Amino acid sequence: MIDARDDVPVIALSHVVKSYPVGEGEVLAVRDVSLVVRRGEFVAIVGASGSGKSTLMSITGCLDFPTRGHYRLEGVNIRELGDRDLSRIRNTRIGFVFQGFNLIPRMSALQNVELPLVYAGMRAPERRRRAGAALEIVGLVDHAAFLPNRLSGGQQQRVAVARAIATNPALILADEPTGALDTRASAELMALFSQLHAHGRTIVMITHEREIAAYASRVVELRDGAVISDREQVPTTAAAGFSG
Ligand SMILES: Nc1ncnc2c1ncn2[C@@H]1O[C@H](COP(=O)(O)OP(=O)(O)OP(=O)(O)O)[C@@H](O)[C@H]1O
Ligand SMILES: [Mg+2]
Repeated sequence: MIDARDDVPVIALSHVVKSYPVGEGEVLAVRDVSLVVRRGEFVAIVGASGSGKSTLMSITGCLDFPTRGHYRLEGVNIRELGDRDLSRIRNTRIGFVFQGFNLIPRMSALQNVELPLVYAGMRAPERRRRAGAALEIVGLVDHAAFLPNRLSGGQQQRVAVARAIATNPALILADEPTGALDTRASAELMALFSQLHAHGRTIVMITHEREIAAYASRVVELRDGAVISDREQVPTTAAAGFSG
């Protein structure tokens, strides 16, 4: 069966500009970016510090609006949504992964993964089943009862990935997901991203490390808020899986 949504890009940014007022003038953090991301793509956004990566990410994640231009997520112009619809879309259609994991310290791995499902109003048994399945995918079902401080950084980030995929979102949005991880944990996380990509997930990931961007199927480079290159590539395939 062909899903009608297959034809609609996950992300469609059209002439997006983001400026911040500074004193009398303004700083242009993003200047005229047009970008389409289709279902199943794994895109790395690269660029030097200050090139506009995080600004573009917060617009893509519906955490901020463009100053000019348009943004459609799965065909929906997010400018036209009210607050409730906007938070519902953020919670259910986008799975966020941050550099600092952002897990709740007093909650077990399983409870952390359940959280977006709680917000989505899902009942406890179904919630637990879905969260358990997500932990299984990231290889941490044996750690479901652990509090975050009993997990390594790499494991905490994989719990965060489980939380991000639990709602079955259209888009996984990751801002420097390996920024706080050592080389080995970074490679394991990228193995997981490659696996999710192979299973058809759409991923947009910010990184300033070339070796990390190598796992993506497409690399978009920003400079001074503008796209200066956009190319497809054969992704690095992660050699090994990961262990507990
Ligand atoms: N809230 C803000 N107010 C004013 N200027 C801002 C604001 N946020 C970002 N900027 C400016 O916009 C530009 C882009 O910043 P952004 O954080 O998007 O860059 P980045 O590529 O994510 O950098 P980094 O790699 O250091 O995280 C920078 O010049 C920054 O100083
Ligand atoms: Mg940034």
